[in-house]
Amino acid sequence: GKVAVLMGGSSAEREISFLSGNGVLDALRLAGVNAHAFDPAEQGLHELKSQGFARCFIALHGRHGEDGTVQGALELLGIPYTGSGVMASAIAMDKVMTKRIWEACGLPTPRHVVLQPGSQELADVRQVPDALGLPLIVKPPREGSSIGVTKVQGYSQMLDAVRLSAQYDPDVLCEEFIEGEEVTCAVLGAGAGAEALPVIRIQAPEGAYDYQNKYFTDEVRYLCPSGLPEAEESEIRRIVLASYRALGCRGWGRADLMIRASDRKPFLLEMNTSPGMTGHSLVPMAARAAGIAYPDLCLRVLASAAL
Ligand code: DAL
Ligand code: MG
Repeated sequence: GKVAVLMGGSSAEREISFLSGNGVLDALRLAGVNAHAFDPAEQGLHELKSQGFARCFIALHGRHGEDGTVQGALELLGIPYTGSGVMASAIAMDKVMTKRIWEACGLPTPRHVVLQPGSQELADVRQVPDALGLPLIVKPPREGSSIGVTKVQGYSQMLDAVRLSAQYDPDVLCEEFIEGEEVTCAVLGAGAGAEALPVIRIQAPEGAYDYQNKYFTDEVRYLCPSGLPEAEESEIRRIVLASYRALGCRGWGRADLMIRASDRKPFLLEMNTSPGMTGHSLVPMAARAAGIAYPDLCLRVLASAAL
């Protein structure tokens, strides 16, 4: 039947979603799938039904795409879709909720403080560095692609960082900065059958793995295979699988982590339930290292579409 590749949407990651969605669309078409682009910001999702779509590949990122809302609408329409269901999508979109679940499961994630609008803490953001140390990370809890993120080096930067984050989300997540290496690890499958792909090590100039360097420069070095000691690689894969199962993810996902330089301990930062599929993106890179070419990755994710 007809497949809709959902792309675009209304989040701050709209531009990235088109890069992901068009990559997936081209690959599916070349593989003989009757696939078409569908932008929920242009057409109501109920049109999927009248236009005869049998399945959806969700290549939307961010709110109203990756956060369970589109997933809920597709549940009501009875159209199978790729990736996590309503609950896991909603939790993973929210980095604070995600951290609460991981903490409850004994999984390592950096210490944090949440500033809510009008809270006393917001009136005195200078207390946050006392609690978390410096540098620290300030970010909107329900965004992606490093949008609205600041690495705060000193007290005087706090207010600007909080204001920037608050442009994207009324709640502001302040997180302990883990000095060390940035790594990412993708997962395919569901439940007991889920498997972690090879770990990717990310080496960005001056540690700036930001929006620009993520998608639009060639300044970042990616190591996959990671070259990490076997024990570290397998520990990361184990933690990531546990973090994926803890959130109830299915289909596919990608966890981002830091490895602390001082003791090589890995810390989970977040789970992406609709990971990037652009030419610079990480899941395609990890899949390739596992012998899964981009078109096969797209077909495999599509085959996992469910209700
Ligand atoms: N949020 C971007 C698309 C990613 O995680 O790949
Ligand atoms: Mg993300």
